[in-house]
Amino acid sequence: MKQTVPSLLKMKQDGTKISMVTAYDYTTASIVESAGIDMILVGDSLGMTMMGYEDTLPVTMDDMIHHTRCVTRGAKNTFVVGDMPFLSYQASVEEAVHNAGRFMKEGRAQAVKLEGGARVRPQIKAITEASIPVCAHLGLTPQSVNAFGGFKVQGKNEKTARQLIEDARAIEAAGAFMVVLECVPARLAALISENLSIPTIGIGAGSGCDGQVLVCQDLLGMTPGGFKPKFVRRFAELGEAMKNAFRSYDEEVKSGAFPAQEHTFRIDDALMDTLEKTYKNRRE
Ligand code: KIV
Repeated sequence: MKQTVPSLLKMKQDGTKISMVTAYDYTTASIVESAGIDMILVGDSLGMTMMGYEDTLPVTMDDMIHHTRCVTRGAKNTFVVGDMPFLSYQASVEEAVHNAGRFMKEGRAQAVKLEGGARVRPQIKAITEASIPVCAHLGLTPQSVNAFGGFKVQGKNEKTARQLIEDARAIEAAGAFMVVLECVPARLAALISENLSIPTIGIGAGSGCDGQVLVCQDLLGMTPGGFKPKFVRRFAELGEAMKNAFRSYDEEVKSGAFPAQEHTFRIDDALMDTLEKTYKNRRE
């Protein structure tokens, strides 16, 4: 059954944990859906996982719409959230509403996500008023990597912890239906989750959140160079499995073992005899 904003809220009320994973393409999205995951995030992390950028900042609205469309074609029965990329909502409320609308009209997503707390309250309010559900994102917000001075855990001292709590309240008051908490100390994330009536989705924020999200490549063990953040658990080693499969393919192509008889198509032998009589050894 496809989740909805009310059903996700009910999951929090019932104490049922929400599962979310990123996906960026049709095939992965359809596999995620067949596994029964509650939600898919088309994260702007695709800038790093799919496009090879160092961070998410170069990702454009067109990149996001393209990938969101691929995902929603592959996962028609899963709640899909499109991630608003850097500078698609910060400059003005009008731009934010217009770009959020593109995720719905062109991407066919069910909601959008944007990064920031009290400072993006006007955008959250306006997008929500346009009937577009908004998921907020607090803590380590990767689009602010330069302001943070790196990918660091957030909210570790009293001032920043209080700020996070206030931001969480502000985005809920502005109308957000959900919030991602990234790289926030576990006890603080649990406190924020208790304080909000909307679900919190943690990534590096402990088990006290109402749900969890992981980047697909991290979860599947496909991260180039094998980098593994502390909060990631690899549920498979697909990177290694893929490398071995590509190696075997390479070996079998070179040895002639692939393709075998069963991978080929037949033609009438009499016809081939005729053709060979005419054409064999006649290159010119
Ligand atoms: O872009 C992304 O994948 C995200 C998740 C890490 C929450 O924002």
